[in-house]
Amino acid sequence: MTSAKPPRPFLKWAGGKTQLLPALLARLPPDLEQGLIRRYVEPFVGSGAFFFGLHHRYPALDCCLIDANPDLTLVYRVVRDRVEELIVRLETIGEAYRAQDGTGRAALYYAVRDRFNAVAADPVERAADLLFLNRIGYNGLYRTNASGEFNVPHGRYRNPRICRPELLRAASRALEGARIGVGDFSDAGRLVNDRTFVYLDPPYRPLSRTASFTAYSRQPFGDDEQRRLAAFVRALDERGARFMLSNSDPRNADPGDDFFDALYEGFVIERVPARRAINRDGAGRGTINELIIRNYGGA
Ligand SMILES: C[S@@+](CC[C@H](N)C(=O)[O-])C[C@H]1O[C@@H](n2cnc3c(N)ncnc32)[C@H](O)[C@@H]1O
Repeated sequence: MTSAKPPRPFLKWAGGKTQLLPALLARLPPDLEQGLIRRYVEPFVGSGAFFFGLHHRYPALDCCLIDANPDLTLVYRVVRDRVEELIVRLETIGEAYRAQDGTGRAALYYAVRDRFNAVAADPVERAADLLFLNRIGYNGLYRTNASGEFNVPHGRYRNPRICRPELLRAASRALEGARIGVGDFSDAGRLVNDRTFVYLDPPYRPLSRTASFTAYSRQPFGDDEQRRLAAFVRALDERGARFMLSNSDPRNADPGDDFFDALYEGFVIERVPARRAINRDGAGRGTINELIIRNYGGA
């Protein structure tokens, strides 16, 4: 039975699409409603906000979720296949954490982080550790150092909810039957035909030249990667697939920047208000746009 609301993401993840979700769901391909699309492919799944929203509306779609981050895809598989074991494990860590004072909590956080970085662990243990680190770590970041070790510091939340069983169970139900793969976005190509809808939410292009590169995993996603992605998306279009892609709009910082307008020329390119940016100096106050690009009309 589908409940009234789609499950929310169970991870905090940079670039999460919860806020943009209504704008994205208002722009689905008309062929989905007509039942002509059978498969859904998402090559940068992150916290999966869009997947959960889409699956809730179209539960019969054959879903294929890909991300370059192997820890992320491991968590998805464990949530799909072993959710009850995961909940027990996470509740145990959560109780141990809550029983400590401030110093003890920090010590436990760093002990879990060390265990996570030692790598060899049962998948359920590893997934529980990552969910714990994600709830308790500073700002819910996922960040690794040059050697690939997770290095986010302890976040000091007063009363954190470490395990949310109903959220995990709802996510598990949504993931039932989904294919989950680790890899580069280009690996998604073999899954796509003319009855496929593809949503792409790549790491953001840095808004200004001075901003540090966007690094969710160890590889930066710079302009060359954005070009490689655009070529991939054009190939999907030629194959007859429907695609929707979102990205930050470089015109927020530089009104003359036409990087994405040139890259995706010929497709439907929209600028949608995303969030209020309030800079400390007030200079950047106002609406920040997000780009939504697709190869079909309607909405
Ligand atoms: C902006 S986030 C996606 C946000 C997501 N849509 C959400 O709602 O949270 C980008 C994701 O792309 C992944 N990624 C980075 N480079 C990639 C690549 N070359 N191929 C596939 N995934 C990649 C990152 O691990 C990250 O999870």
